[in-house]
Amino acid sequence: MKVLVATEKPFAAAAVEGIREVTEAAGNELVLLEKYTDKAQLLEAVADADAVIIRSDKIDAEVLAAAKQLKIVVRAGAGYDNVDLAAATAHGVVVENTPGQNANAVAELVFGLLVSAVRGFYNGKAGSELLGKKLGILAFGNVGRNVARIAKGFGMDVYAYDAYCPAEVIEQAGVHAVTSQDALFETCDVVSLHIPATPETKQSIGYELVGKLKKGGVLVNTARKEVIGEEGLVRLLAEREDLRFVTDIKPDADAEFQKFEGRYFSTPKKMGAQTAEANINAGLAAARQITAFFKEGDTKFQVNK
Ligand code: 3PG
Repeated sequence: MKVLVATEKPFAAAAVEGIREVTEAAGNELVLLEKYTDKAQLLEAVADADAVIIRSDKIDAEVLAAAKQLKIVVRAGAGYDNVDLAAATAHGVVVENTPGQNANAVAELVFGLLVSAVRGFYNGKAGSELLGKKLGILAFGNVGRNVARIAKGFGMDVYAYDAYCPAEVIEQAGVHAVTSQDALFETCDVVSLHIPATPETKQSIGYELVGKLKKGGVLVNTARKEVIGEEGLVRLLAEREDLRFVTDIKPDADAEFQKFEGRYFSTPKKMGAQTAEANINAGLAAARQITAFFKEGDTKFQVNK
């Protein structure tokens, strides 16, 4: 079987080595398409692939139509909004993710972004500390739980809301469960987003909701840019000079946000999962899942069931 690693943003070399070892030990062949700049390169590379490992790379109906041998796509990471699930199902292609494998990397970046925001991006003036501040975690999945763990080390008072996770589970983790998104924003000094991009969540974080943050509030987004109602957030930041917005996902309206100098920061490229450890965890998990799929028909992590 031919296993293609198609990564516009490549894995660390050690992760690629590990993926190769796992793949070849199972008698499969590994092909690399890294740092591609054109969709045509991807269309050509998938033509004879039986399996594909991707990151945020887009697998749409056109790619699936070109991938005549394809049986499985594994998104080495959590969010699979970059894969057209309906088209994959229609082509009989299994889609999997590797949940949790890069969660700590993303959670650590939340605090990298947050510390620089509350220190005024190191502008030489007195900033503020995280100790004793209220942190709100929106969605208590793998990343949210890691954020809670690290926040406790900073001595933060941690709150969470998750429409799909029972309050008892949140409380058992030593986190205050609140009953709505509104309550989370009203209660907290900082809110960190960990919701997936779905029809329900798209553009759900905007003017009204973020406007509920306390004076000096910070919004941290290491989720997807689509969850932000950008027009509303730009309007809010113009009205509320106390608010700050830090993001690992460059918004479409980046140029508008750039006007809020000292209150806005975006990483140039999505960096949350970009650590050697996360690459190894997620890359190896993807390679192992493909091996198990071809050997035993294992579809434990399938997301298009
Ligand atoms: C994920 O959904 O796992 C993260 O957003 C990581 O995305 P990346 O693999 O493109 O860095």
